[in-house]
Amino acid sequence: MTPERAPLLEVRDLVAGYGAVQVLTGLDITVAEGEVAVMLGANGAGKTTTMRAISGMINRKGTITFRGEALTRRAPDEIVRMGIAQVPQGRGTFTDLTVEENLRAGAYVRKGSGIEADLEEWFGVFPRLRERRSQKAGGLSGGEQQMLAIARALMSRPKLLLCDEPSLGLAPIITQELFDVLKRLNTEQGLSILIVEQNANLALRIAHSVFVLETGSIVASGTAQEISNNDAVRTAYLGY
Ligand SMILES: Nc1ncnc2c1ncn2[C@@H]1O[C@H](COP(=O)(O)OP(=O)(O)O)[C@@H](O)[C@H]1O
Ligand SMILES: [Mg+2]
Repeated sequence: MTPERAPLLEVRDLVAGYGAVQVLTGLDITVAEGEVAVMLGANGAGKTTTMRAISGMINRKGTITFRGEALTRRAPDEIVRMGIAQVPQGRGTFTDLTVEENLRAGAYVRKGSGIEADLEEWFGVFPRLRERRSQKAGGLSGGEQQMLAIARALMSRPKLLLCDEPSLGLAPIITQELFDVLKRLNTEQGLSILIVEQNANLALRIAHSVFVLETGSIVASGTAQEISNNDAVRTAYLGY
């Protein structure tokens, strides 16, 4: 059993979509302080829509509470300032900017102090980004761009990192490295992480809790252990 942790993010009855198309039909998730939560779901289930709704990129209804504060009516930049940073699906790095410029862009919600120290800290966690700090992001490998996208999000000093399909298109060994870094950020820095991931087996290895999303709502949730033992989930998402 994982010890009882305080809730950090609470999402209740979340409804969101695009225009007349309703994608999320009443979604509930809770991410506890200091925890890695993983959301599993097939293509088109609404995983990215969930991330966008939390970070304020799309209109949504329902209740989203972060550290006890309601954020359903807040704008994306306010939500970043409250402590939630999103690493979007497809990474979203600025390919024409250098690695360092991308990282500085990630600190846009902050005032000057501490930014230089943070640059050094993340270069320590991602040494290959330091080597490439003056290169254009567009010239980096897929794995390096994903690391950059994560480091850029960390520049806002989040309490909660939203990570949307970080392993998409990456070789297994790079994916492994990426998950090792996420795990370290969680254990060493106490960063809470909500990850959407197709590679369910790998994600479950670093997860404390798991949510399974099907067509706009959560159909199963539990500890990583409980979900690994759930036959239906195993067949559908874990392939054994
Ligand atoms: N910008 C958009 N406009 C209209 N429909 C969209 C848009 N983005 C996603 N959708 C639709 O919303 C549903 C959920 O998409 P998404 O949240 O991206 O799924 P997932 O990330 O789980 O693969 C899909 O049916 C998709 O076609
Ligand atoms: Mg998606």
